[in-house]
Amino acid sequence: MNEQQRKQQAQIRSEEANIERIKNTSSEELIAKYFHADYEPQSPDIKKARKRRKEDIQFHYDFSIPEDMQRIGEGKKFLIRTYGCQMNEHDTEVMAGILSEMGYESTNVTEEADIILLNTCAIRENAENKVFGEIGHLKPLKLEKPDLIIGVCGCMSQEESVVDRILKKHQHIDLIFGTHNIHRLPHLVKEAMFGKEMIVEVWSKEGDIIENLPKARKGKIKAWVNIMYGCDKFCTYCIVPMTRGKERSRRPQDIIQEIRHLVAQGYKEVTLLGQNVNAYGKDFEDIEYGLGDLMNDIHKIDIPRVRFTTSHPRDFDDRLIEVLAQGGNLLDHIHLPVQSGSSEILKKMNRKYTREEYLELVRKIREAMPHATLTTDIIVGFPNETEEQFEETMTLVEEVGFEAAYTFIYSPREGTPAARKKDDVPEEVKKQRLYRLNELVNKQSAESMKSYQGEIVKVLVEGESKKDPDVLAGYTERNKLVNFKGPKTAIGQIVEVEITETKTWSLNGVMVENRVEVK
Ligand code: 5AD
Ligand code: SF4
Repeated sequence: MNEQQRKQQAQIRSEEANIERIKNTSSEELIAKYFHADYEPQSPDIKKARKRRKEDIQFHYDFSIPEDMQRIGEGKKFLIRTYGCQMNEHDTEVMAGILSEMGYESTNVTEEADIILLNTCAIRENAENKVFGEIGHLKPLKLEKPDLIIGVCGCMSQEESVVDRILKKHQHIDLIFGTHNIHRLPHLVKEAMFGKEMIVEVWSKEGDIIENLPKARKGKIKAWVNIMYGCDKFCTYCIVPMTRGKERSRRPQDIIQEIRHLVAQGYKEVTLLGQNVNAYGKDFEDIEYGLGDLMNDIHKIDIPRVRFTTSHPRDFDDRLIEVLAQGGNLLDHIHLPVQSGSSEILKKMNRKYTREEYLELVRKIREAMPHATLTTDIIVGFPNETEEQFEETMTLVEEVGFEAAYTFIYSPREGTPAARKKDDVPEEVKKQRLYRLNELVNKQSAESMKSYQGEIVKVLVEGESKKDPDVLAGYTERNKLVNFKGPKTAIGQIVEVEITETKTWSLNGVMVENRVEVK
């Protein structure tokens, strides 16, 4: 047996001993043992969350990696698997930035990694199941490579039931940390490296805003920019206000500086991110400044394309519509989650608008931006949704003419008010409703695509198409995927493409000779 094998055997024995110990300990004892007194993981609790006060948020500009951790990852590799929304994708870029500053290199090969992080999503049950599946798959690798650090972070780690289950059943996990603990990554990795027990650090209360976290962005053409964190809307089906904390906005000058910096690096598009971007600025006590004002200031910056997501219809105000109507780098694609077309269901969802109010908002947007593309999110099978109420969703989809929609079957989330409701809608009926809705959305998408036949569109070229390296792919201003033949030098540029064929979800075309000048 060589030194390496001896080390592995010792680690396996210690792991087996750990598992034995875990089996004989109650989960309460485990939780008491593992959670540091300062850290307070909780079951999602809507009452507690609603009571959170508008305490002052501190802004920090002094993040740095402690000296003794700056080279800890030298010669080692990391892999982060991301589940869920763009916010998670962007958090992954921050964690990748931190790990890179600690000397780690990134890898896509699971077997090569010395540290694997699962950045998880809690929004629906199937998202959680996928993560537990992956946790199980990683166990043999951990047994083979005892020094491998496996961490679970993101929204699932904010749920006590998840942490409890990992502690009880998945002792090969080394580290669990929450959405408010990302900046603590260097310390947590160090503890996991040198400690024997599972490290758990989950702050239930949101932390301050840390401004200068490093970011290893995924691409060099499009970038995510956080404008705010958290959500105070408390839709009755949604776990996000519990996993992401209360609404906190970044200061305008910090956002603008970040975008200017991205321009200097050659980025062509930014997407402003927040769980409810229209609430941007509502927490400022010293200035009156909302999303409309921010967009107006960004409009003056020399970045060719600006998008934002996700909007809440209730907070989408006239000032924002007026600013967006200026066009320029503010693109006329609006993602406006409606969730349901029935005012009764919307009330039960606590969405704070009716079908009529939503339609009125759409009318105002169309009046100011006649060519705007509207897309949405819809949940079918909310508890006790009737056939008539579902039909109202179908007619609303037609009336608005959504060109795309993310559609979901309602998934009960522990701790949310809707999850306590008895539900008389059979699963089979929910699946059929989803199927019918998807058919309609596909039909509308295909129709909207047809209107582009023979048109010339501006495409920000992102790279080679996934299916064929001879074909380039990119998105139009209204977010339509275009595949076309063109020179590789077009990658990263905005070019004109003539559409020759339309499909349900994409367009095919040929590049028009002259590249569009990007100012
Ligand atoms: N079940 C199903 N879909 C959900 N969403 C949020 N919570 C749930 C849930 N419990 C959907 C909403 C939201 C999108 C991001 O996910 O449509 O807009
Ligand atoms: Fe969830 Fe969005 Fe509602 Fe906030 S606004 S509670 S993130 S669905």
